Amino acid sequence: MLKKVVLLTIGGVFATAAVAQSDIFKADDLVKYRQSIYQVMGAQAKVMGAMVKGEIDFDAEALHQRALNMGNVGKLLGETYVPATRDVEESNILPAAWEDMDGFSAKGKAFGGALEELIAASGEPGFDAAMAKPAVGKLMKSCKACHDDYRE
Ligand code: HEC
Repeated sequence: MLKKVVLLTIGGVFATAAVAQSDIFKADDLVKYRQSIYQVMGAQAKVMGAMVKGEIDFDAEALHQRALNMGNVGKLLGETYVPATRDVEESNILPAAWEDMDGFSAKGKAFGGALEELIAASGEPGFDAAMAKPAVGKLMKSCKACHDDYRE
């Protein structure tokens, strides 16, 4: 079954258009919102990772849905990255991210690209565990690459 490829705009970390709307949120709440999004993303990643490791049965359709879930919440991240959240103690983002927004955004774009590739590939007929392994691996590496540099 050929599934429609969903185009995402998750690359736009620090999306400025969303900033006006984020004005209605308190900085503390934005950090909780952000961390919750990452928790949802983490849960999707856990299931996909378990599938490619063979810990649970491989199911292309389920994996595709997990990737879509990640995209749906991931595209909301941009509106949580308002400068006022920098001073929130509970946040685990390193000052380096604020000081090097280009570098941080590049990691976000790499993540968005890997996720878009996975969404597209997993929606194609014949997508199997052998194809999923490198695609999921690339996605996971994009998480780690950002965490290594920009997360406590
Ligand atoms: C562009 C950078 C970036 C990318 C890409 C990224 N993260 Fe993160 N992640 C962060 C930052 C920054 C935090 C800390 C946020 C905070 O505390 O304000 C974080 C926090 C988290 C947390 C902890 C949330 C909490 O409860 O405090 C999890 C889980 C997580 N990320 C999972 C993932 C997964 C899974 C991926 C990839 C699918 C991913 N992240 C990709 C930057 C990134």
